[in-house]
Amino acid sequence: MRLIRTKDYKEMSRKAANIVAAQVIQKEDSVLGLATGSTMIGLYEELVSRYRQGDLDFSKVRTFNLDEYLGLHPDNPYSYHYYMKTNLFDHVNIAPENTHIPNGMTDHPDEECRNYDLQIESLGGIDLQLLGLGLDGHIGFNEPDDVFRKESHCVRLDESTIQANSRFFDHENDVPRHALTMGMGAIMKAKTILFCVNGKAKTSILKQVLYGPITPRVPGSILQLHPNLIVVADEEALSEI
Ligand code: F6R
Repeated sequence: MRLIRTKDYKEMSRKAANIVAAQVIQKEDSVLGLATGSTMIGLYEELVSRYRQGDLDFSKVRTFNLDEYLGLHPDNPYSYHYYMKTNLFDHVNIAPENTHIPNGMTDHPDEECRNYDLQIESLGGIDLQLLGLGLDGHIGFNEPDDVFRKESHCVRLDESTIQANSRFFDHENDVPRHALTMGMGAIMKAKTILFCVNGKAKTSILKQVLYGPITPRVPGSILQLHPNLIVVADEEALSEI
């Protein structure tokens, strides 16, 4: 594990963007695994700004997002489709057909998940996977469980996740209770993982994830087994490490 300590969110976003930029420059048809949430907003802003300066070209990049809420249409402002369009895809020269996000409107979640895994495999797996950390230790929407789930799957979100994510919605009742998420298999097979964590609220869970027992009760703890994990985290999140 390589640990990059930054003074604040802005520096975390810049340093993480440097790593994504290096990946895309070195391999123009990189397969990127993307995350959403507040952690990633600064990183995507940095990527957009480098694209505008002419330093990055996304025309051959392929992407797979980690997750999507079940039942939300791509045009719904709370959907991760919408998040990705407004924070990144609409502002860079990525081809829409090269971007992949689980279809939250599917009537057949199991089939959707199987196909998602097959698509990732057919492109040779993920080169660089971005990850944020949930307050309950989730990565993607792999919630605490009795086992690590290898395949992409439909998950019932934990109450703590619903509550944490309600800040993006008008009412807590609007937060979908189910989501589709990439499983641990595709995440752990990524050649490099870029794990970004910031803020006081994540201090204790980050310590458990990086140095506690490896257990599906703390899903992110599986990252300790990844051979090429880069953690970029700010002082607040690292205050116990
Ligand atoms: C989102 C995702 C989640 C978030 C996590 C942290 O695509 O995969 O695991 O990374 O919930 O969310 P924020 O960044 O909002 O604290």
